[in-house]
This record gives sequence, structure tokens and C-alpha cells, in this order.
Amino acid sequence: MAPMSQAWAFSFLLLLALFSSFLICSSNGERVFLYPQSPKVSSIVSKRYRTAYHFQPPKNWINDPNGPMYYNGFYHEFYQYNPNGSLWGNIVWGHSVSTDLVNWIRLEAAIERDTPSDINGCWTGSATILTGGQLVIIYTGADTEKRQVQNIVLPKNQSDPYLREWIKVGDNPVIEPVGPGLNSSQFRDPTTGWIGPDGLWRIAVGAELNGYSAALLYKSKDFLTWTRVDHPLYSSKTFSMWECPDFFAVLPGNKSGLDLSAAIPNGAKHVLKMSLDSCDKYMIGVYDLKLDTFVPDTVLEDRRLWLRIDYGNYYASKSFFDSKKGRRIIWGWTNETDSSSDDVAKGWAGIHAIPRTIWLGGDGKQLLQWPVQEIESLHTGEISHQGIELKKGDLFEIKGTDTLQADVEIDFELTSNNNTDPFDPSWLLDTEKHCREADASVHGGVGPFGLVVLASDNMEEHTTVHFRVYKSQHKYMILMCSDLRRSSLRPGLYTPAYGGFFEFDLEKEKKISLRTLIDRSAVESFGGGGRVCIMARVYPVALVDDGGARMYAFNNGSSTVRVPQLRAWSMTRAQVNVNKV
Ligand SMILES: *[C@@H]1O[C@H](CO)[C@@H](O)[C@H](O)[C@H]1NC(C)=O
Ligand SMILES: *[C@@H]1O[C@H](CO)[C@@H](O)[C@H](O)[C@H]1NC(C)=O
Ligand SMILES: *[C@@H]1O[C@H](CO)[C@@H](O)[C@H](O)[C@H]1NC(C)=O
Ligand SMILES: *[C@@H]1O[C@H](CO)[C@@H](O)[C@H](O)[C@H]1NC(C)=O
Ligand SMILES: *[C@@H]1O[C@H](CO)[C@@H](O)[C@H](O)[C@H]1NC(C)=O
Ligand SMILES: *[C@@H]1O[C@H](CO)[C@@H](O)[C@H](O)[C@H]1NC(C)=O
Ligand SMILES: *[C@@H]1O[C@H](CO)[C@@H](O)[C@H](O)[C@H]1NC(C)=O
Repeated sequence: MAPMSQAWAFSFLLLLALFSSFLICSSNGERVFLYPQSPKVSSIVSKRYRTAYHFQPPKNWINDPNGPMYYNGFYHEFYQYNPNGSLWGNIVWGHSVSTDLVNWIRLEAAIERDTPSDINGCWTGSATILTGGQLVIIYTGADTEKRQVQNIVLPKNQSDPYLREWIKVGDNPVIEPVGPGLNSSQFRDPTTGWIGPDGLWRIAVGAELNGYSAALLYKSKDFLTWTRVDHPLYSSKTFSMWECPDFFAVLPGNKSGLDLSAAIPNGAKHVLKMSLDSCDKYMIGVYDLKLDTFVPDTVLEDRRLWLRIDYGNYYASKSFFDSKKGRRIIWGWTNETDSSSDDVAKGWAGIHAIPRTIWLGGDGKQLLQWPVQEIESLHTGEISHQGIELKKGDLFEIKGTDTLQADVEIDFELTSNNNTDPFDPSWLLDTEKHCREADASVHGGVGPFGLVVLASDNMEEHTTVHFRVYKSQHKYMILMCSDLRRSSLRPGLYTPAYGGFFEFDLEKEKKISLRTLIDRSAVESFGGGGRVCIMARVYPVALVDDGGARMYAFNNGSSTVRVPQLRAWSMTRAQVNVNKV
């Protein structure tokens, strides 16, 4: 993840925070007023915006997930963490462990800034379980000269189930930013290692090389001494560095995960994920073992058309093979979309999205994702409805669940698809623009239909997650939007209308599914069985003032849609980092 230079703003924001405290002092911390110009808008510092079952530490800034792994009975989640405040800076590796990916125990920092090769920051990296079971983490350090170098840590006592202490080996950095075309401030975020047929370990490192974005390839016999391979794993002329590359193998149509260092079965594909333009994009292709390069199935010159892990607020993701359940799991970072001064006032910033199982669809063309099954242990008080008909303009209120902490699954079935509007491929270049123009109040042939969540009584505040069905030449294209533009009356928020398209075989599939996890300021949605995922952050005033919010299913398309099945659960609070051991 990119180093940010926000130091200039910090002292100013501190002053602002001090000033703001004049306005907040006489309160119980819940109903307080920060914006004198709009007295109805209560303070952002309300605890009600903190999530109840997403990953976050008790306070301070977090960004990228680091080194996720399953080892010896525990899941480990490390994360970029500022122990000193709620803006980016002083980055060390926070560390938590879990047996179920839902409840987390917070441990002391695993990697701190205490050697010349990481004194200016312990940045993103990955864990690898070597042959024989030895664990190793490789991460980027910002050294005394603020160059980006790659360092190694090993567990001090590998029998300690929590792996609390990590030690730096003597010869850090193990990789320096040297060699033709390398820029020492654009060289970071090493991947998990994998072993090749020659028995050598490989890692990829994100870099900018002579103006190209690249995942550089390094080889090693012992994970300590590394040499750069003379060609990158993959590179592309995108004029923007690729952060946080991730490289893994998948089998088309098979939900099982693959360990990249085990024998890769016939028919497997490889995925290269990279973080750029504030989103996580990926390519599907093959790993050519002879040439030692990644070869994408299709090369799209225009990177606006690249597939995305998530079409909302989701960045710097990292995946790992979960040997306990034989699946691949991906974690991503979701930032706040209030202002930096709001984050200083709140004292916390950043969450991780729900860990998702990730696999390749049967057509081999795109990844699918679904919240890990363990999250369902938080379900309580199921409500369900069958056979609802939604005519144009209908709004069906979903009652009986905690609308601030909920898991909603709804299937939509079309009664007719002969008045679908035509698809225009140019929309693919800017799906957010299309979601703004064709929003939930613009009637279409088939759609918009979907959910309204976190709505105030009078609908002044509401967030929609919805679909539209378009007819392309030989197929249907489904647009999924998550529109935040009316999510809050609070000023100064970033409230886009996120959107993504997916192909759909309406004749074969009939139903379009939507699952939305609502967790106070997080709305995380999975459309078409996980074909388009959209993570979003919202801060409705109603959530603080009324302590409640409403939820609806709706249809604003000319065609009636049927809801054969709607199920919703309240979500109980998880134990996330509340206890420090
Ligand atoms: C936190 O800030 C203090 C004062 O600026 C500094 O001395 C200390 O090193 C910082 N701690 C970390 C872990 O960055
Ligand atoms: C390593 O951890 C194990 C399990 O907690 C413990 O029994 C052992 O004493 C530890 N060894 C050292 C050298 O601390
Ligand atoms: C290296 O990258 C930094 C940060 O993007 C940039 O400011 C600098 O100009 C680059 N240096 C060279 C030699 O390209
Ligand atoms: C899916 O892949 C796993 C791991 O390679 C394999 O054991 C399993 O048989 C496959 N399942 C199907 C349905 O092909
Ligand atoms: C974080 O939030 C801001 C909105 O304040 C957004 O513009 C930015 O790109 C986001 N994502 C990342 C990865 O920083
Ligand atoms: C449209 O679909 C409906 C329901 O399937 C059908 O009754 C009607 O005849 C169709 N209209 C046309 C023009 O195809
Ligand atoms: C449906 O459309 C009407 C009329 O344009 C609009 O007032 C209403 O807000 C829309 N419903 C939703 C959920 O956006």
C-alpha cells in the first residue's frame, strides 16, 4: 500500500479535534452536535458507527491485511496499523488470531519499526509455510533512506499456538531495490512464495519498471538469498504502480482452493490480482512454467475494463489457502469515507471486509466470492417470506430483524423478459456514471429492483442495492449498483454510486440472487451468487439519532418481479479484538 504524506495535515487536524471537543463536551457520547450549521446532524464520533462483526481493532488507523494464514489450529490476521493515531503513519504489523474467522483475539504487534531496514515503516507482506512446515513472513520495510526493501521475520517459537513473537533474521534486507529500471520508492508488497519444478522458491513484488507496472519475479533456494529473474512475472503499460500483487491457482467450477506450492492439477488456471486506481483488479490466465511467466487469457488495453474483485470500497486484498477447510479465502481493506478530521474525532479508521471464499466460475471467465460460512454462526431470529410479487413502484418492508446488523438473502425471478432495455457496451467504461444516470428512481423495462437499507422513516436517508437487466446480442447483462448518494444527511462524505456488470443466462438460471450484509456503517453486497461484490461505507444520521433504520425490497421496473424466497437474520455482535491476551 502506498505511503501517504499526510503529516502536514496532522497538526492542523489535531487543532481541529481540540476545537471540536468544545462542541462535544457536554454529552454522553451518543447524541452530540458537531456541525453548528446543521443542528440536526449529530456527531460522527458515535459508537453506533463502529461495526459489530467486521474486523477492526479497538482504536486507531488500519489499512492492508497482511500475511493471512491458517497454522496449527489458528487463523492469523496481521494488518497495517498505526499504534499512535487514526491517520496513516508509524506503520507496524498488528496481529490477531481466531479459530473461526469471526471472533478475534488481539495480540501485541508482530513486527515493529526497530531496525535500519524498517525504521520508517513495516509495510505490507505475506506469510509462506515452507516445505517441512517452517513459517516465514516477507514484508516491505521503509529503510533509513526511505527506500523500499524486503525483509524477513521468523516465529521465535513455532510451537507457540499464537505465534506471538517474530524475530528479524540477521541479513535483512533480503532484497534491495537495485537493478535496471527500478525506482526505490515504487517497490513493495511481496506475495506468498510458491515453489517451481526446479525446487526454487518464487515471490512476486509490486513495482514500477521503466514506466511499466510490473509484478517482478524473484527466486531463492532458501527464502533468504534472492535473485531477480530477468523478466517480470507479468507487466503492463498502465503508468501506475501495482500495489499488493496476489498470485494463486484455481480450478474452473471447483470451489476447493489450491495450495500454490502443491502440485497444480491439470486444467487449473492462475489469477494475478493487483491493486491500482483505488480498486483491486485481476486477470485470469495460465502460468507458463517453462517461461516462468503469467499469460493472461485475454489482454485488455483499457484497464477500466479489467475485472474487479469488488466494485466498491475494497483495496489491497490478499488471499491464502486454508488447509483446514480446503478453500481459498480473500481479505480486503475498506477505508472510511468520512473526512480525516472525522477520523481524528472518532479515534479509529478502517475495517477489513468479511473474509470471503473465492473460486473460479465454471466458464473460467470470472471469480466468484461468498462470505465464509462461519459468519452464519452470528445468525439469530430468522424471518422468511415466499412468493412476494413486486409490481412497478412497490416497496415491501422487511420487518422483524435488527436492520443495523443483518444478513439478507433475496432471490428475484423475472415474470417476463421481453421488454428488457438494450445494452450499450460503452457503459462498461464507467459503470459508476451509469449507476448515477440510471438510478433506482429511473424506471426501466426489467429493473431497477433490489433492496433499500438503512433508510430513515421518511426516506430522506437511504442506501439502495439494486439490479437492472439489459439484453445484449446473445446474452443478458445485469447491472448491479450500490448507490450511496442519499445514504446520509451528514455533510462532507464520499458517497458514490458504485456499479458492476455481469453476464447472465436468464433462460438457464431464472433467478438473480442478492445477499447483503449490513453492519452499521458497512453494507457489503454479493450479486448473482457472488459474481459482482460491492463493499460500501455509510454514516446515516438516522442510525445515531433514532437508533433504527428501515429495510425494504422494491421494484421500479415496468415488469413485475417475483421474490420466490427472502430470508433475513439479525447478526449478533462478534468478539472482535475486544480481549487482549
Ligand atoms: C508514537 O509517537 C511518539 C511521539 O511522536 C513516538 O515517540 C513513538 O515512537 C511513536 N510510536 C510508534 C510505535 O510509532
Ligand atoms: C514454545 O511454546 C511452547 C508452547 O506454548 C512452550 O511449551 C515452550 O516452552 C516454548 N518454548 C520456548 C523456548 O519458549
Ligand atoms: C520514483 O517514484 C517516485 C514516487 O512515485 C517519483 O516521485 C519519482 O519521480 C520516481 N523517480 C524516478 C527516477 O522515476
Ligand atoms: C475439486 O478440486 C479438488 C482439489 O483438487 C478435488 O479433490 C475435487 O475432486 C474437485 N471436485 C470436483 C467436483 O471436481
Ligand atoms: C478511501 O476513501 C476515499 C474517500 O475519502 C477514496 O477517495 C479513496 O480512494 C479510498 N480508497 C483508498 C484505497 O484509499
Ligand atoms: C411478453 O411476455 C409475456 C409474458 O411472458 C407474454 O404474455 C407476451 O405475449 C410477451 N409479449 C411479446 C410482445 O412477446
Ligand atoms: C422508485 O421511483 C420513484 C419515482 O421515480 C421514486 O420516487 C422512488 O424513490 C423510487 N424508489 C427507490 C427505492 O428508489
